[in-house]
Amino acid sequence: MRRFSTQKIVLFALLGTILVIILLMGLQDRPQREITPITELIVTEQPPAVEEDAPAEEAAAVVETTDAEAVPAEALEEEVAPEEEAATEEATAQTAEPVAEAAQSRTALFFAVLPATPPIPTDNPQTPEKVELGKMLFFEPRLSQSSVIACSTCHNLGLGGTDRIPTSLGHDFQTGGRNAPTVLNAAFFNQQFWDGRAESLEEQAQGPIQAGVEMAMPPDLAVERLKSIKGYLPYFEAAFPDEEDPITFDNIVKAIAAFERTLITPNDPLDRYLLGDEDALSPLAKKGMETFEAVNCVACHNGPMLSSGFLMRFRHGEDSGRMTITGDPADEFLFRVPTLRNLPLTAPYFHDGSAGTIEEAINIMANVQLNKELTDEEVQAISAFLNSLIGQQPEVTIPILPAN
Ligand code: HEC
Ligand code: HEC
Repeated sequence: MRRFSTQKIVLFALLGTILVIILLMGLQDRPQREITPITELIVTEQPPAVEEDAPAEEAAAVVETTDAEAVPAEALEEEVAPEEEAATEEATAQTAEPVAEAAQSRTALFFAVLPATPPIPTDNPQTPEKVELGKMLFFEPRLSQSSVIACSTCHNLGLGGTDRIPTSLGHDFQTGGRNAPTVLNAAFFNQQFWDGRAESLEEQAQGPIQAGVEMAMPPDLAVERLKSIKGYLPYFEAAFPDEEDPITFDNIVKAIAAFERTLITPNDPLDRYLLGDEDALSPLAKKGMETFEAVNCVACHNGPMLSSGFLMRFRHGEDSGRMTITGDPADEFLFRVPTLRNLPLTAPYFHDGSAGTIEEAINIMANVQLNKELTDEEVQAISAFLNSLIGQQPEVTIPILPAN
């Protein structure tokens, strides 16, 4: 049994309260701000690998070369350090914590509650009219050359914002060779795509409309097509009221991005747990969360998205990641760390869709990223944790698109 003076208990209670207040204040502020790097949304201390503001390839190198285990292991030791060692009051306050509380407070250090609203860029404010138009365009197959492929074809909101196939099929049944990441919560990422090649949802949305393997639609043709559907004009006028000629490619992608910023999934069991509902996670899921930290998955999967938002090296398969666009060998195999929110809805996993199940993905991650073999028990526990990450899905009514 451990003994604690009232003084210490009061101190811990105080520290805990302050942490919660900081967390809540952060949540209220955020939506009004301009795009904040995902790293800033992360409330606290990171293991060194992700804390570095270094270029992605350097950060990746750090992870590869350091003993990734060192950080949490040390932290763990500190927290459960024998009381006798805590010689002075001060030292005690910094290191020792009641064992029962240790798990939860350590967890709060690596994860954070998903804010209800993502950052909104100042040059594309949200309005209900714009979001409504964006939703129509998201479901609009006539934005593709063939008139059969919409954003929603590959980012099906009935399927967790994905298509649930390993690599997407686009125009003429071509495949771009990559798995469609979910659009749910994508608004929290600064770097979009597996290789981070777009820096905003606006920039991102230009890609698939034009991409030969996706919708194969040149911007001029997209604009011409929408202009020929007379029913769209009132919607563009309402969404972009001060503009004389509102049907432009720029406004198409702005409206789609505005709609995507509503695709947020708050209140999953992890968030409810972080907000104080002890029973929101099952005992096995809690154990999984602790294991997830102890083996250092949190080096890359942390913060509100369970993603640092950084590009990290992942040697797996043929795709050379960011190098495919930069040509720089230093960028070989760099992929952006994906979110793990809603993971059970977004199988198969990885940029090539090569892992069919969560367990398979956990094992590969442990081997390739951490050079570790996990026991079956550890995998089951982490899987229970990741399986609990389904948030409240956005309620999206199917829009009625103008016939002509
Ligand atoms: C043919 C299937 C297909 C269509 C159609 C499609 N996408 Fe995608 N989407 C993908 C694939 C595959 C990727 C990943 C490509 C990559 O990383 O190289 C992706 C990536 C994204 C991302 C990045 C998410 C992240 O976490 O990085 C967003 C956002 C997105 N698409 C939105 C859209 C929008 C908006 C449209 C319609 C304008 C659209 N997509 C049309 C397949 C598709
Ligand atoms: C060094 C950074 C790093 C570490 C450590 C790490 N991951 Fe990952 N994780 C990534 C990257 C990068 C990807 C994307 C891989 C790709 O390109 O397919 C990823 C992908 C995943 C995916 C697939 C998500 C999806 O939607 O496709 C899961 C699940 C996952 N990681 C779980 C874990 C678990 C569990 C651990 C600990 C055992 C872990 N990761 C450790 C960087 C990391």
